[in-house]
Amino acid sequence: MRVLVTGGAGFIGSHFVKRLAAKGDEAVVLDRLTYSGNRANLEGVEHEFHHGDIADPEAVAAAGTGCAAVANFAAETHVDRSILGPREFVHTDVLGTQTLLEWARESGARYVQVSTDEVYGDLEPNIRSREDDPLRPSSPYAAAKAAGDLQVLAYVRTYGVRASITRGANTFGSHQYPEKLIPLFVTNALEGLELPVYGDGKQVREWLHADDHCAAIELVLRDGEPGEVYNVGGEEFENIEVTHRIVELTGVDAGLIRHVEDRAGHDRRYALDDAKLRTLGWSPRHSFGETGLTETVEWYRANRDWWEPIKSGEYREYYERQYAHRLA
Ligand code: TYD
Repeated sequence: MRVLVTGGAGFIGSHFVKRLAAKGDEAVVLDRLTYSGNRANLEGVEHEFHHGDIADPEAVAAAGTGCAAVANFAAETHVDRSILGPREFVHTDVLGTQTLLEWARESGARYVQVSTDEVYGDLEPNIRSREDDPLRPSSPYAAAKAAGDLQVLAYVRTYGVRASITRGANTFGSHQYPEKLIPLFVTNALEGLELPVYGDGKQVREWLHADDHCAAIELVLRDGEPGEVYNVGGEEFENIEVTHRIVELTGVDAGLIRHVEDRAGHDRRYALDDAKLRTLGWSPRHSFGETGLTETVEWYRANRDWWEPIKSGEYREYYERQYAHRLA
């Protein structure tokens, strides 16, 4: 199968391209190569590359030629950046999604929208989100993803587009841009820099390995029902527990942990009920607590040449804006 992978030079997208290539499927990548897109993520991996924006119908049509399916990984994804500047999120996550859906409508391609648990918003302890729960996004990022999901469902109902949605938990693994909790804290620790924990650090996230996440997306692409949503869950940990494990695994002093001013609108907890996806035959192969985090830390330790160049340039400006006053 020839599959259009938008955002294929990003973190989860590049893991998906590797998966397709390993199985002998043809991956066509459309990526705008914004700050977090990186062609080095696809080095040595068989694929066809197109540089362009998913909100540009011509770029989508050119890349999509001959593709029977599309998996949409292209998105602005970082909550803190969405708080600093929400507009770009609406462009890519809403208008971009609608543009891709229009292409799927015209071409008849199968469509999978890669979404997030954040669309459900904050959860009390002991509750897990199910696919038909109301959407209560808290951040501009989550609101943009929720709007994208609603576009998908409208295109299924109105135009009969064969689209499904996956809503994944916090994803970890190699090649993740060092703005997210795990790669930020691991690389900071390896550089001897402080680890800025927002608020009390007792917020809960579920952690899902990039390969398990991609296996779920591939399964939904092949066997999922149009119009259906599938949660992809992970293992629950408090941020402060994750932080202490990173301190242990990198061997740094726990004194590097700094509790700093909280994120605005910060969700306390996400948790997914993924029974529906398990009925399709998915189960995770990587355990975050046992080996997953350890292997990820090892990857960052062994691949400084991947992240050191990223942590200069644009990243520095962002880091200053986001953390300088918090760490002052
Ligand atoms: P993040 O990796 O940004 O993912 P998301 O916001 O999509 O869950 O953050 C994960 C958790 O870690 C979240 O509760 C915010 C927290 N966090 C910090 O405490 N400090 C940080 O510097 C970052 C980036 C995140």
